[in-house]
Amino acid sequence: MANIAIIYHSHGGNTKKMAEALAKAVEETGCQAKLIKVADAQLADLREADGVLLGSPCYFGNMSAPMKEFVDRSVQLFGKGELEGKPGGAFVSTGGIGGCGELALMSLTAGLMIHGMVVQGFRKGGHLGPLAIGEPDQRVLDECRLYGTQFANLVKRLAG
Ligand SMILES: Cc1cc2nc3c(=O)[nH]c(=O)nc-3n(C[C@H](O)[C@H](O)[C@H](O)COP(=O)(O)O)c2cc1C
Repeated sequence: MANIAIIYHSHGGNTKKMAEALAKAVEETGCQAKLIKVADAQLADLREADGVLLGSPCYFGNMSAPMKEFVDRSVQLFGKGELEGKPGGAFVSTGGIGGCGELALMSLTAGLMIHGMVVQGFRKGGHLGPLAIGEPDQRVLDECRLYGTQFANLVKRLAG
């Protein structure tokens, strides 16, 4: 069974709700979802997963510091290309429209791409990945479901 690590930081619970909706969608496709708070995340979680989703609140137009620290730590996997070819994706909760949430999505996505991971654009919603304004409403939760399903299907295809 393909397994997907959903690693997230959430101080107030908004990003966590998105992570949980993604995990539910992943499980519904028959993949295993492992929800991991970034404070508990290990490099082994990245190594062992068939696909990785990273979620963060938008802090000053970027991913939050705890998520950035984890992404920086993942440089240890860069040299040997341990994440190369593995599917990756991102999701973000931000405070307001125009609050630079898309920059945070781009910054997470850049991290995935620098590792050589495979990032699929999203046609049926926010094209960079799910983006909530504050607490995720039903529209965002539906989008997380669609994105989680799309992501799990990609992981299944690439995991063979
Ligand atoms: C330190 C800090 C910086 C923030 N910077 C931004 C920002 O640049 N743009 C924005 O729209 N919201 C910003 N916010 C608001 C959060 O992105 C927003 O409340 C988010 O939903 C929090 O997610 P969480 O409940 O998962 O912690 C910031 C919040 C904090 C605490």
